[in-house]
Amino acid sequence: MRIKPLRKAVFPVGGLGTRFLPATKAMPKEMLPIVDRPLIQYAVEEAMEAGIEQMIFVTGRGKSAIEDHFDIAFELETMMSQRGKSLDILDATRLKPGAVAYVRQQEPLGLGHAVWCARDIVGDEPFAVLLADDLMVGEPGCLKQMVDAYNKIGGNLICAEEVPDDQTHRYGIITPGMRAGALTEVTGLVEKPAPGTAPSNLSVIGRYVLQPEVMRVLETQEAGAGGEIQLTDAMARMIGGQPFHGVTFAGTRYDCGDKAGFIQANIAVAMARDDIGPQIEAWLRR
Ligand code: G1P
Repeated sequence: MRIKPLRKAVFPVGGLGTRFLPATKAMPKEMLPIVDRPLIQYAVEEAMEAGIEQMIFVTGRGKSAIEDHFDIAFELETMMSQRGKSLDILDATRLKPGAVAYVRQQEPLGLGHAVWCARDIVGDEPFAVLLADDLMVGEPGCLKQMVDAYNKIGGNLICAEEVPDDQTHRYGIITPGMRAGALTEVTGLVEKPAPGTAPSNLSVIGRYVLQPEVMRVLETQEAGAGGEIQLTDAMARMIGGQPFHGVTFAGTRYDCGDKAGFIQANIAVAMARDDIGPQIEAWLRR
């Protein structure tokens, strides 16, 4: 089996972010900062570290700040250069032409639909999907760990993490098969099962490596949980025809789609930083 290299990543960023209103009334939720970098930048840097060459954003109305963030900022950069300031701080935000593409999801029809909107840019290649809400902190990064696994076994990979039993209704849930190290065979998938009906507590976290066939499956995917076209449902239909594995991430996930998780992420990332970590830690201790 020849394993095609992974070069492209899809970032669904069309979501409305109602859980963070009013902060997200006029600003994309993906631009909320963890210390001094917006959430989406952590996901993009994670993809770069994993060797991804093209970032594909599935955006929507009101999301243009994301496009500006990953562009050059002519006036700002000119002014900084004139004042002798280094532009290094902006490095990961200046995506070169060809390294970035944008496509609009016109209606909020679900994650599966968002991914399907990128089908022409993805083409006939495997691709990653990163949900910026899940902030993955670890070394190497989460997608890099998954790509290392992908380069050995190919197929489709989903990041997997155990969640408390009373949380399974918030996630895609895996029916686990054989386990070997960080890999778990995926024999079934269900999106947001009703409380008490989950096949396990192994949940899908927002990192995927998928084969392009999923785009064909999404074409005919009907609405599922929450009335939305679910990526989980399309992946479930591919099981049996294609290999699927869960990858346990060696690191920490912060659920930044949730207010408490977002604050925890800010504190954890701040404490781990050399510049402000000691100050934050001393303050927390007090
Ligand atoms: C999405 C996926 C779900 C997954 C979750 C991970 O749900 O549909 O399968 O478990 O991301 O964060 P959402 O958080 O968009 O409701």
